[in-house]
Amino acid sequence: MSDSGQQTPLVFVHGSGDSARSWAQVIDALPDIPCVALDLPGHGALIEQPGPDSPSVSDYAAFVRAEIERRGLMGARVVGHSLGGAIALQLTLDAPEMITGVALVGTGARLRVLPELLAAAQEDPAALHELAGFGFAPGHEDARERFLRELEPLAPGALYRDLAACDAFDCRAELERITCPALIVVGTEDRLTPPKYAAFLRDSLPHTTLVEIAGAGHYLSYEAPELLAATLRDWQTQTLS
Ligand code: COA
Repeated sequence: MSDSGQQTPLVFVHGSGDSARSWAQVIDALPDIPCVALDLPGHGALIEQPGPDSPSVSDYAAFVRAEIERRGLMGARVVGHSLGGAIALQLTLDAPEMITGVALVGTGARLRVLPELLAAAQEDPAALHELAGFGFAPGHEDARERFLRELEPLAPGALYRDLAACDAFDCRAELERITCPALIVVGTEDRLTPPKYAAFLRDSLPHTTLVEIAGAGHYLSYEAPELLAATLRDWQTQTLS
């Protein structure tokens, strides 16, 4: 294992209605790798800076790009969950020179959202409970409770804006332009971004490693944080040494 490989920073981008906080358990398990977890506008520490009224995944990717520049993290690898994975893909398409790899966790190249979830999010910010109801695998109720307990406050409308950005996202036709190494991680019980989305990414991207986490659902950073961290570390070791 080369030191330079391990030292390549990981920049974490959260999913819809979530915040940097969602990566805490994963990052705790990676003390040897420099990790930075971002809050998207309107989330977590950025609750007072909601950003555009109807952000697209491209808008969020531009935000992440600016943060990487501002923090001097050029050449980092971007780890994205769900919406965050879409953002990572878009960033790789828009600024391939900025990042050296993407880890796509519970995500896909197209992220249509169940109409009832979208409608619920528009009416009620507590719709995250509904999302969590779909998102956690059976047997992971404790992880779901922790997720709901630890949620950071959101700017009004942020969950709906996130889900609408997901719903409009589709980069399937562009995947062949992505050349950097990609790690794809999916829970076998993920109902929000099912394993077929991960298989599509594996089949469409040139340098991929696909890892399926048995028995886990969509919220891998809560349902299997240590396994996810070990998967990220192995990927760093195998593809950067
Ligand atoms: N990667 C590869 N293929 C994808 C894809 C992805 N990310 N997303 C959709 N497709 C494919 C489907 O496999 C399907 O192909 P097929 O016709 O050959 O089977 C086709 O595109 C149509 O997709 P689908 O999503 O089934 O469209 P739909 O309009 O019939 O269904 C939903 C819409 C919302 C019901 C469905 O997308 C879904 O269940 N989504 C997951 C639930 C959700 O809300 N997730 C939240 C994500 S943030």
